[in-house]
Amino acid sequence: MCGIVGYLGNENAREIIIKGLHRLEYRGYDSAGIALSGEGDGTLHIFKDKGRVAHLEEISGIDFVSHQGIGHTRWATHGVPNQVNSHPHDSEDGRFFIVHNGVIENYKELKNQYLDGRNFKSDTDTEVIAYLIEKFSEKLTVEEAIRKTMSLLEGSYALAIIDRTEKNKMYAAKNKSPLLIGLSDNGIIVGSDVMALVGFSKEYIPLDDHSFVKIEGNTVAIYDIIGKEMQYEVKAIDVDYLNIEKGEYAHFMLKEINEQPSVIRQIIGRYFDGEKVTLNGEVKKAIKESNRLYIIAAGTSMNAGAIGRELFEKMAGIPCEVHIASEFAYNMPLLSKRPLFIFISQSGETADSRAVLVNIKAKGYRSLTITNVKTSTLAREADHFVEIHAGPEIAVASTKAYTAQIAILAILAYTLSDQHINLRKELSKLAISMENVIDKKEYIEELVREKLTKRNCFYIGRGIDYYACLESSLKLKEISYIQTEGFAAGELKHGTIALIEEGTPVIAIISQRKINHNTRSNLQEVKSRGAATIVISTKAVHETTDQIVLDDVYELFSPILTVVPTQLIAYYAALQRGYDIDKPRNLAKSVTVE
Ligand code: AGP
Repeated sequence: MCGIVGYLGNENAREIIIKGLHRLEYRGYDSAGIALSGEGDGTLHIFKDKGRVAHLEEISGIDFVSHQGIGHTRWATHGVPNQVNSHPHDSEDGRFFIVHNGVIENYKELKNQYLDGRNFKSDTDTEVIAYLIEKFSEKLTVEEAIRKTMSLLEGSYALAIIDRTEKNKMYAAKNKSPLLIGLSDNGIIVGSDVMALVGFSKEYIPLDDHSFVKIEGNTVAIYDIIGKEMQYEVKAIDVDYLNIEKGEYAHFMLKEINEQPSVIRQIIGRYFDGEKVTLNGEVKKAIKESNRLYIIAAGTSMNAGAIGRELFEKMAGIPCEVHIASEFAYNMPLLSKRPLFIFISQSGETADSRAVLVNIKAKGYRSLTITNVKTSTLAREADHFVEIHAGPEIAVASTKAYTAQIAILAILAYTLSDQHINLRKELSKLAISMENVIDKKEYIEELVREKLTKRNCFYIGRGIDYYACLESSLKLKEISYIQTEGFAAGELKHGTIALIEEGTPVIAIISQRKINHNTRSNLQEVKSRGAATIVISTKAVHETTDQIVLDDVYELFSPILTVVPTQLIAYYAALQRGYDIDKPRNLAKSVTVE
């Protein structure tokens, strides 16, 4: 993961880089660093430490304006988060400074083969890159040395590189990890994500794998690994700056939970003309032509995919499988004759999903990406893409992207179904029902205080409610650190019920008529063993003792609604424990390493 920013131009490099790092902090936040060129020739100021970008801001004060610099916010892979392992890293002679996002898989072999006897300062895989550039630059030009280094690296990298002796130049390189070049009359900015560019550039260049970039003054030249100049596309940045601020909310997560009804309305606005769905005909055709859909995703997006399978199979009668991206990439099952791969990813940058995309593209299979970030790698590289229009999601814990992904899957499945429901009406109803739950947030906060008193917790449900439980439990565990499992309600008695003791919280989701009684029987079984239960149900199936009763909605779409109180449960559980809700420990928003 990690976020990188580089700047060369006539504005204040420190300000631009620090601002960009703040915006990229969702990618990792265990340490941060910056290198800024100084006033004299060849002088460079390095500041780096364990901790957040706010800490870096405090320790990196300089009393002059620097015009060249690189910065980094880290999610540790090789080496613990400490000062020494923080980026930027320099070459042994201190000439080349680099920031890196990615993983160099063969760094040990490279050390042995090319850098035997050298003195390494950190435990990172990154340092080897700086050392190799230094070694090769003894006989080659700097550009050739970087490209030679690139040709030896196995794994993923987005790099920004400064040569201490060249104040008017900066270099960048990319393979697998995302990297963009932002353009402006006042300089060039290099960043892991458009977010780092917003406010500075109006246009950007997305880089392809194996690109080498030379920035000199205000000009950009892009080459492939053998030094052949590459053509590139310049795109407009249309991210709304205000959308990436927290506004009146205490946390981005709370803001994003609250935004869900308007996201559903936004989706209706984007994909309907009256009652009619206005989906790209090519997407519909691609689904129709396949004889089995393979949904590939990770984490929350995979939980949305599980609902997608239900929708495709039950609404449209299309066979569908859902796979964990990291498993599928290296352990592919037998495929049908005409598969269509559907990648679901909020960020569009998840390395595990991309590994599958690269793999299936090489085999000639068709693909569709459903994402929130239209500029992302998965959106660019798939044959088709559909945007979920959730707006920037900043909190690490995904909320509005999940419900938006399901809404989009519902639209896709609906267009291929007999269309016996009024989808627009059902989605509008959902938006209102979501607002009704959000209005009850103070009550949910109290419920959490009363019931979630233990180190562990269970969510139980059946059918589509079970899939909503998987997402609900992921949410609770990732931000409150309560060990939570989402369980098929009927399966609990086959072993896991042994974990239920006095006061263990068990939260049931019940929205389906046909399994109402079964799930309630399973609830009785845990209650008899001392569980502290909470029931989230819909009006049609509710009992008077249920704590959270939601409006009735079209049953197959119920996870869009039932998940909302569970997002609030997670939020308040974390708040009451005093944790950093938007940046939970050990996590990052965009998982760009495999
Ligand atoms: C969920 O709250 C997490 N942020 C995580 O599980 C996430 O959904 C997963 O890493 C996949 O990310 P993506 O949707 O950007 O591909």
